[in-house]
Amino acid sequence: MMNRPYIICHMTTSIDGKVTGDFLFRDECSEAIEEYYQINRNLKCDGFICGRVTMEGSFTQGYYPDLSQYKAVKPEPCRVDYVLDKEKLSGFYAVAFDTNGKLGWKSNMIIDPDGDPGYDGAQIIEVLSENVDERYLGYLESMEIPYIFAGENKIDVKNALFKLKNLFGIDKLLLEGGSVINGAFLRVDAVDELSLVIAPTIADEDSKTLFADSKITDFTLTNSYTKNDVVVLKLKRR
Ligand SMILES: NC(=O)c1ccc[n+]([C@@H]2O[C@H](COP(=O)([O-])OP(=O)(O)OC[C@H]3O[C@@H](n4cnc5c(N)ncnc54)[C@H](OP(=O)(O)O)[C@@H]3O)[C@@H](O)[C@H]2O)c1
Repeated sequence: MMNRPYIICHMTTSIDGKVTGDFLFRDECSEAIEEYYQINRNLKCDGFICGRVTMEGSFTQGYYPDLSQYKAVKPEPCRVDYVLDKEKLSGFYAVAFDTNGKLGWKSNMIIDPDGDPGYDGAQIIEVLSENVDERYLGYLESMEIPYIFAGENKIDVKNALFKLKNLFGIDKLLLEGGSVINGAFLRVDAVDELSLVIAPTIADEDSKTLFADSKITDFTLTNSYTKNDVVVLKLKRR
């Protein structure tokens, strides 16, 4: 048994393996994006992980609370994880890797405008480093948003995954970008599977690769199919 959740990195890429930037918003990519969301629903994991930048772009839209209204949660004698009682845990999570607590949530769960069951209702978990404003912790507690610490100044991915498994009982998660957080997972061998939806487009020079600061890692192809111009690849780490 693994002491961390099984991780499937699910991403839409360009032909040249990029995952960010303007190409994603073109009509020519819409079929790939639709297939991406369809697969996301079908994979039925215990939730999904995103880096802080992706969470901001897709879900919080840059909102940040006025921290002066919240009580500081002081370390005593060290930082303490805030995990809710079992009956308050939903079993379906949106896990935010948010080093310094920059994400402002208006609800403790994702409210998807289209009610997409792949995202809607996912309970938020904040993964933090210890370098976070103590009033931000008070804000999260007031919202009943669970948080865990993993690392002093930057997030130790392995430690975070260990806690997600052992404190929340999470067995399987999607890693859904972006480039920077994907790279951090790849570097510690925490990408078990890849699920890639390749759009028939080449990205521009500003777009980032599937894994920022990557290292050589071998995969084996387990499945592939096409849907008109879109290619879907499923691979497992060797
Ligand atoms: N093609 C797709 O399928 C897809 C899917 C999702 C997102 N995207 C795109 O991806 C873009 C954002 O990607 P991105 O690469 O710029 O950012 P990202 O990976 O979404 O977020 C990076 C941030 O995550 C935080 N982080 C937490 N732990 C970390 C760790 N151990 N190592 C590194 N960072 C850690 C850091 O936040 P701090 O800076 O606060 O420290 C870091 O800056 C968006 O434009 C979105 O459109 C594409």
